[in-house]
Amino acid sequence: LMTAAAVMALGATAQSAAASCEDGEMVIKFSHVTNTDKHPKGIAASLLQQRVNDEMNGKACMEVFPNSTLYTDEQVIEAMLRGDVQLAAPSLSLFESITKAYRLFDLPFMFKNIDAVDAFQASDTGQEMLDMMQRRGLQGLGFWHNGMKQFSANKPLIEPADANGLKFRVQPSDVLVAQMNALGASPQPMAFSEVYGALQTGVVDGQENTWSNIYGQKFFEVQDGITETNHGVLDYLVVASVDWLDSLDADTRDQFLTILDEVTTERNADVGKVDLEARQAIQDAGGEIRELTDAQRQDWVDVMKPVWSQFEEEVGAENIAAAQEFNA
Ligand code: LMR
Repeated sequence: LMTAAAVMALGATAQSAAASCEDGEMVIKFSHVTNTDKHPKGIAASLLQQRVNDEMNGKACMEVFPNSTLYTDEQVIEAMLRGDVQLAAPSLSLFESITKAYRLFDLPFMFKNIDAVDAFQASDTGQEMLDMMQRRGLQGLGFWHNGMKQFSANKPLIEPADANGLKFRVQPSDVLVAQMNALGASPQPMAFSEVYGALQTGVVDGQENTWSNIYGQKFFEVQDGITETNHGVLDYLVVASVDWLDSLDADTRDQFLTILDEVTTERNADVGKVDLEARQAIQDAGGEIRELTDAQRQDWVDVMKPVWSQFEEEVGAENIAAAQEFNA
């Protein structure tokens, strides 16, 4: 018996395989976990593929594997270091086990919106973060945006106490585990591809994610509703291995990195629109979205923000202060 996800996955593989590479072309495999429609990462990956295959035709050929068809994000870094894939764009949460500085991004209510995230990443502190994992064989090539996270569960979440005792899926991140513990909830780290099934069967009661992920994975179908908390950020690091980058001849590398930079700038500028379209698509499909009053939202801030102090030493008080400047 095949699940709907597996059928979709097969379709996606067939589609990427159709962009077949010619002999002599360097193959760039890009593995990611989201859908491609109404999704910031899916759209950016498709544009990158199209541009590389048009402009580097004969030299390079990109194959994109979306929807976790090749690897989960928990597996993809290892696969990259083995040389099985050349490009990935996992959520920043996946890197906190490699570089504690990345925990900054998972701290709840650290950034007020994606513009603040963008400005911080463009600063010297943010740009230095691209180079922080070179010793581990990884080179950050840029940040791709998704959006702010919202909570959903199998019951209405209006005040923080509503989350008490519920099981929430989180990405594999100690900060996100601490955040759910602060709510009196039970955090369950789990791969993205397993979340829909876990929500549907009641293995977990709720989850946190962006509008495009909640729409793309249809989480709203198996949840009571979504509460618009905007409590954290979900953003991506486009990453390659140092070994692979070093293996490219200078012209090829420059051309590829220039295309990637242009795609990054273009798609990041449009991300707010994609986010709102996904929010609207959830409503159009009958998903329940609950807005909070300022006072109600402040209650969530009061319960979750104390998590910062647990991670301040690892993340660096100066980095927290630098990030906060962009919320002004
Ligand atoms: C998640 O696991 O929820 C996200 O990291 C998925 C993604 O890539 O947006």
